[in-house]
Amino acid sequence: MALEVIVLAAGMGTRMHSSKPKVLHEIAAAPMLFHVLRTAASLQPSKIHVVLGHQSEKVTAALATLESQEPELYHKLNVVLQQEQLGTAHAVKQVLPHLSAANQVVILYGDTPLTPRHLLEELLSGLNQHSLTLLTANLSNPTGYGRIIRDASGQVLGIVEEKDATAEQKKLSEVNMGMLASTTEILQLYVPAINNNNAQHEFYLTDLIGLLVQAAAQSQVAHGVGAVQAACADIPLLSGINNKLQLSQVERLYQRQAAERLMLSGVTLADPERFDLRGELICGQDCFIDTNVIIKGKVVLGNNVIIGTGCVLSDVTIGDNSEISPYTIMEKSELKKHTTIGPFARLRPGNVLEDEVHIGNFVEVKNSHIDEGTKAGHLTYIGDSDIGKKTNIGAGTITCNYDGAYKHRTTIGNDVFIGSDTQLVAPVTVEDGATVAAGTTVTKTVPANQLVLTRVNPVLVSTYKRPRKTPKA
Ligand code: UD1
Ligand code: CA
Repeated sequence: MALEVIVLAAGMGTRMHSSKPKVLHEIAAAPMLFHVLRTAASLQPSKIHVVLGHQSEKVTAALATLESQEPELYHKLNVVLQQEQLGTAHAVKQVLPHLSAANQVVILYGDTPLTPRHLLEELLSGLNQHSLTLLTANLSNPTGYGRIIRDASGQVLGIVEEKDATAEQKKLSEVNMGMLASTTEILQLYVPAINNNNAQHEFYLTDLIGLLVQAAAQSQVAHGVGAVQAACADIPLLSGINNKLQLSQVERLYQRQAAERLMLSGVTLADPERFDLRGELICGQDCFIDTNVIIKGKVVLGNNVIIGTGCVLSDVTIGDNSEISPYTIMEKSELKKHTTIGPFARLRPGNVLEDEVHIGNFVEVKNSHIDEGTKAGHLTYIGDSDIGKKTNIGAGTITCNYDGAYKHRTTIGNDVFIGSDTQLVAPVTVEDGATVAAGTTVTKTVPANQLVLTRVNPVLVSTYKRPRKTPKA
């Protein structure tokens, strides 16, 4: 039996007070809906039906970005429009014509991004004995949730929504978390039978439970309804996001989980509460990550890598025994072994730094290849450059790579010495072993092993008097 997943994501999200649809608000820099879809995909379904309504164009546009990023997931998606949001059963009803016969179905909510997969697996395995399984939890404060009604023997009889519950029913602490599993047959038979005779005049998916219990009693279906109770530890992960406060709480939960996973895999985090993973981090042995580091995209660290406080690393690979000093910002670059970068360095996209390269404070590097052992210690801009081995780039060196219309490359050989405050006007080449004197503006090829300088002789003016303020009387 194959599996199909339905994700309900048509709701308004009024309480976010935002022009952005609720399910596009981000957890770990990805729309919360993407997290739900990834969990759904991890169950290996044949299709994931996403019910959209409110601002569906914006959500559809966001989903389209998955085509290149996560093609396998993207090709499982089937967007179903719910023009008017008349309730959760009405949302599921829109999907019924898209379901294939004899499949299992899991229903998820687009605003509950951390739903643990193991609970969904439990719901699915419960379908061996039940027509439908739902997820419940005992909450100390059940306000707002649908309450689970059971008979004396503990059998689930139905769900009563908060707004329809009697004072007595409101005291029940077992609530419906929303996610459920069933089959296409059951949904196709019973969802259309749900009406909106209730306080909110909504078509409640939760009414399905009462209908099925009745049908089982009358032997119209072979099996009844089963409940999977979430353990205490999982309850926070099942809380839906309705406002920005809950968004931040779920973000922290996500970050906690990520930090725990990394620490258990051997990474040392100076403080798991001050670490943000907004992508994927792969680490070798004995890596140390100081406080307030942000990881974006895919970051790969080798063994013995140290990341200083306040670094932002985005899509970078850093080789063994490298040290990135505090407040360094790096994007789309590859660093080999024993590199030392920062503090306060900026690597923009497109760099390859070979072994033992040193980039110091206030140095910006972009779209450049820097070979083994080369150093640029201070206050420098290296853009669109190819630099050889064991070359020294003095403080205040600038590659003038842009002529106002086009970018040009600077080529510097091995064992070159670039004096401080040099401008290299690209396209230009400095050959192996050359020396560029401090303050030089290099505009043409410097041949190997030669010294170049463009220096006006100092003028000494012995008669000069610097203006001085006259002291107040
Ligand atoms: C629902 C359950 C309630 C449960 C709670 C758990 C119903 C009737 N009630 O209530 O028993 O305790 O979740 O959080 O199901 N949606 C649509 N189309 C609609 C209406 C909703 O797609 O017409 C989507 C929403 O975007 C959301 C999800 O369904 O992702 C749940 O809807 P919401 O209105 O938040 O349900 P609750 O009132 O919280
Ligand atoms: Ca509602």
